[in-house]
Amino acid sequence: MKSSPVVIVTGASSGIGEETALLLGEEGYRVVLAARRLDRLEKLAAQIRQAGGEALAVGLDLSQKDQIINLVDRVHDHFGKIDILVNNAGSARHLWLDEQSLDDDIQKQLQVNLIGMIQLTRLVLPGMLAAGRGQIIHVSSIAAWVGVPTYTIYNAGKFGTRGFLASLRRELRGTGVVVSEIFPGAVDTDFGLDPRVSWKTTTVTPAFALVSPRSVANRILRVIRTRRRKTVIPSIMWLAIWADTFFPGFVGWVFSFYFFTRDGVRYSWRHRPD
Ligand SMILES: NC(=O)c1ccc[n+]([C@@H]2O[C@H](COP(=O)([O-])OP(=O)(O)OC[C@H]3O[C@@H](n4cnc5c(N)ncnc54)[C@H](OP(=O)(O)O)[C@@H]3O)[C@@H](O)[C@H]2O)c1
Repeated sequence: MKSSPVVIVTGASSGIGEETALLLGEEGYRVVLAARRLDRLEKLAAQIRQAGGEALAVGLDLSQKDQIINLVDRVHDHFGKIDILVNNAGSARHLWLDEQSLDDDIQKQLQVNLIGMIQLTRLVLPGMLAAGRGQIIHVSSIAAWVGVPTYTIYNAGKFGTRGFLASLRRELRGTGVVVSEIFPGAVDTDFGLDPRVSWKTTTVTPAFALVSPRSVANRILRVIRTRRRKTVIPSIMWLAIWADTFFPGFVGWVFSFYFFTRDGVRYSWRHRPD
């Protein structure tokens, strides 16, 4: 009898990852929930089990290599295989570059958003190659295409993952393992909220362009079913990618009204001069 696919969802303790894990659990996937807040993962795992699904909660700090190795070992011990990896965990500190600390802001952000994601992908790959089938999904961002002031390190991480996956996709040609990327615009979650920075996507994104974490989860499910390579959500965001690719000067000019220097004064929606 064919057993149901095993999916790891990183960052399953809130937002997009939580909704994705719930949805995949409902759809019969065996779900591994990974993030730092183990108490939240345990509650979610119990909820999935109560609804008749199968779930395993594993504590994971993506900035710690040993914990990444431990996650993969635990899943192999428990389920014996990994069919799909949803690289969703991420963190952001929206600060000007000269405000970012070398360790906590720069190194840690890149460790979580880029290096940890690469290390985890590297570790799950041999099992997928041996099985001749698998899927690596990355919850990326429009910030993998468009540079945004105060996003320097976040942009570096997301641009980096796009380069990594572009190469990996070609390496994996003909192996049965596919690479998929989801590029959301603004999603209505607590992402990027930081006690030092009063910022919220909902305050700057018009309602028509703001998507719910559930709709991103639905899109991830569709990407699993279709094995599609690239998805932008909402689709109107292709326009931002297209505009920044062909008219970067124009996009920079538009940004200057929202984020940038005017008369030598640096301001943004969070640092507006009186
Ligand atoms: N919200 C948006 O507007 C938006 C737009 C485009 C792309 N995205 C992307 O969507 C993904 C999910 O974000 P979200 O919007 O759902 O925000 P969220 O609710 O803040 O979720 C982020 C998740 O990442 C986990 N995480 C953070 N640091 C981690 C670490 N060191 N180790 C392991 N897990 C860690 C968090 O869990 P713990 O704190 O429990 O570890 C949490 O579960 C991110 O990759 C983000 O870049 C979001």
